[in-house]
Amino acid sequence: MCIYSNFIRPILFQLDPEKAHALAHKFIVNGTSILAALGNKFIYPGKDLQVSIFGNILSNPIGLAAGFDKNGDLVEALKYLGFSFAEIGSITGQGHEGNPKPRLWRLPADEGLINWLGLNNEGALKVSQKLAVSNFSIPIGITIAKTNKPNVTGEAIYEDMLLSFRAIRHLPLLYVALNVSCPNTHDGVVEEAGILARVIEQISKENTVQLPLVLKLSPDSNDELIEKMIQLGKSFSVAGYVCGNTSTSREGLKTSGVKNIKNGGLSGPPLKPLALTLCRKVYELKENNQIIMGCGGIRNGQDAYDFIRAGSTVLQIYTSLVYQGPSVVRKINEELSQLLKRDNLLLSQAIGIDSTAISRQ
Ligand SMILES: Cc1cc2nc3c(=O)[nH]c(=O)nc-3n(C[C@H](O)[C@H](O)[C@H](O)COP(=O)(O)O)c2cc1C
Repeated sequence: MCIYSNFIRPILFQLDPEKAHALAHKFIVNGTSILAALGNKFIYPGKDLQVSIFGNILSNPIGLAAGFDKNGDLVEALKYLGFSFAEIGSITGQGHEGNPKPRLWRLPADEGLINWLGLNNEGALKVSQKLAVSNFSIPIGITIAKTNKPNVTGEAIYEDMLLSFRAIRHLPLLYVALNVSCPNTHDGVVEEAGILARVIEQISKENTVQLPLVLKLSPDSNDELIEKMIQLGKSFSVAGYVCGNTSTSREGLKTSGVKNIKNGGLSGPPLKPLALTLCRKVYELKENNQIIMGCGGIRNGQDAYDFIRAGSTVLQIYTSLVYQGPSVVRKINEELSQLLKRDNLLLSQAIGIDSTAISRQ
């Protein structure tokens, strides 16, 4: 019997989604010793899913997606939930309270979420100071976005993102992601702001410790924008792409009343087809040495396998953790391992196997 689905989730789901999130957070922070005492309960024990990114060997391909630990409070505990890496943030140059509430909705019939949080976080400096004295239990990436204020536009976006990068570049990070695709900010995605090339150029110049940079893309991007982003990624030799962020789509949702939620990014299973398509397109266009972190609606081994076959080297999850609780990471890994065995493939052989681009390797 699953304790989370039968007992904990029904209680959490009675609460306002943000309050439930805060409570889960508190439990993970204050209950790290309980999680540690559970030993390896949530940790996938096999060695067959080890994967190497940016010179680090990860124990399995499943990481925590951005947004769950916006301020870096959970880095000492995440290992006990089975994650092999995590993306902290998004952090922004200035601390910000985010958009007005309500701004987070559950879509139970779709196992999805819509969030319009608007990049609430404590700010780059504060998060950086906290992380500097934390013990990372797993490799940690950080995502930077622009401060979500109407006056942070044009030139100010550039200054703001640089400020964040300067605040965190000395930390022992796995990578830094540039979140240029958040649908919940005042002026929409930075992808379209034309300032991105300058931001990457300057960050690259100041990246003397050579932290791998990755771009987080939007599943709502049209082909032209995807091509533009990959071109940019190639010219600045970025290390990879997160495919991808939440979507403004409300297509095919079953939860009643959802059409009334106008603002916000959709996550969870309804996002999967869009994210998978993005992943396939990016795999076709990217350089061989750039990796894809697949993200969007991954809730079981089959989803994970689909993203890997579409070109992802590692994966990230958020919404399935909310719906399935801490056993989800191990479950996904166990099912993925079975699928690979069934098809007589190593994880490394499955990456991008569904793509026609495989012929170029
Ligand atoms: C409540 C919430 C907050 C999020 N905040 C961020 C964020 O700050 N930065 C970011 O890059 N992505 C953010 N995301 C997007 C996730 O990282 C991920 O791309 C998206 O949820 C799709 O994955 P999933 O279907 O597994 O949830 C957020 C997602 C949710 C649900």
